[in-house]
Amino acid sequence: MKIALVGAGLAGKQHIQTILSNKNCTLDLIIDPSQGAYEISKKLNTQYFSNIEKALEKSNPDGAIIATPNPVHKKNAEPFIRKKIPILIEKPLSSDVKSALDIVIHAKKQNTPVLTGHHRRHNKIIQKAKSKIQSGDLGKIIASHATCWLFKPNSYFNTWRKSLGGGPLLINLVHDIDLMRYLIGEIDCVQSFESNSIRGGDTEDTAVVLLKFKNGSLGTLSVSDTIISPWSWELNSNENPIYPYNKQTCYWIGGTHGSLELPKSKIWKSVDKRSWWEPITHSNYKIGKYKNYPLVQQLNNFLAVIENKEEPICSGIDGLNTLAVIEAIKLAAKTNTAVKPELLKK
Ligand SMILES: NC(=O)c1ccc[n+]([C@@H]2O[C@H](COP(=O)([O-])OP(=O)(O)OC[C@H]3O[C@@H](n4cnc5c(N)ncnc54)[C@H](O)[C@@H]3O)[C@@H](O)[C@H]2O)c1
Repeated sequence: MKIALVGAGLAGKQHIQTILSNKNCTLDLIIDPSQGAYEISKKLNTQYFSNIEKALEKSNPDGAIIATPNPVHKKNAEPFIRKKIPILIEKPLSSDVKSALDIVIHAKKQNTPVLTGHHRRHNKIIQKAKSKIQSGDLGKIIASHATCWLFKPNSYFNTWRKSLGGGPLLINLVHDIDLMRYLIGEIDCVQSFESNSIRGGDTEDTAVVLLKFKNGSLGTLSVSDTIISPWSWELNSNENPIYPYNKQTCYWIGGTHGSLELPKSKIWKSVDKRSWWEPITHSNYKIGKYKNYPLVQQLNNFLAVIENKEEPICSGIDGLNTLAVIEAIKLAAKTNTAVKPELLKK
């Protein structure tokens, strides 16, 4: 299958490597107005275009991966959807719910698959954790906590990352929220506080969030891109070689019959009786052999969707609903109230 790559920046370069290493597809063309992207296409001997319309006059890819800044996801998705070309759009699906909904509606009308690049869902650690939770091994899930504390240097904050949508809620916590929805269930209501005491400007640099799930479970999350710490999925999962690997825990999921630490895949249970006076013990369950690089599994799912062999593991609607939760978190922080996200049914 011929795949087009739109946006050859930080994320796009990883998609290029993933496409090149997959025997079931080829990198058909790169679309990106930057000089850097032009040079990459020269080096790889791949077709190059500075804009999508021109590219689609000359080429007819089987699918496209869109890895451009969030505010232009909708604009860049439309020409592909018009031509019924399946697309995988990097997370977040768009920079706001309204434009994300436009993408989903347009794709539905054109009967064209849209996937959202919440690649962590494809991680075998997450797939296994989901089946453990669904099997009832932990009992009823009562509460969960996720920590995402990182430190991003000033050089990371180019023009678009300094404006709305460039803060850690949309860049980082959106992944954690998506996973909590995937693992625990749909979110009913959120509360939150945010601050930007370090970087200032329009975007948050830190936020704390309370979640109430529709199944009654409760969750807390804490995110910051101004804290030096080893606790975040980015630094703990070893799924992306650009981050140093720290073998720490960043998610805790607690049930009536046991609790789970991720990404260590460690389950804690009572040795005998369930009681705080009784000993508890832990065990690590086996994940099985896998490539610890979910972009590979994500691309495989995308190719199978193009061939009509699989459903998306993370669809456009999934991306839209995760974004709706992030918008609810932003609104909750702004209004100091509890907010119910408006979610779209599948
Ligand atoms: N899944 C992940 O873990 C992950 C990680 C990083 C970024 N992302 C997402 O990937 C997307 C890109 O982020 P990034 O960090 O790679 O940004 P970036 O700034 O490094 O790269 C963006 C690229 O898109 C190009 N571009 C801009 N407008 C364009 C247009 N209209 N048409 C074609 N190309 C255009 C730019 O020239 C640049 O090369 C964002 O949505 C971001 O949230 C996801």
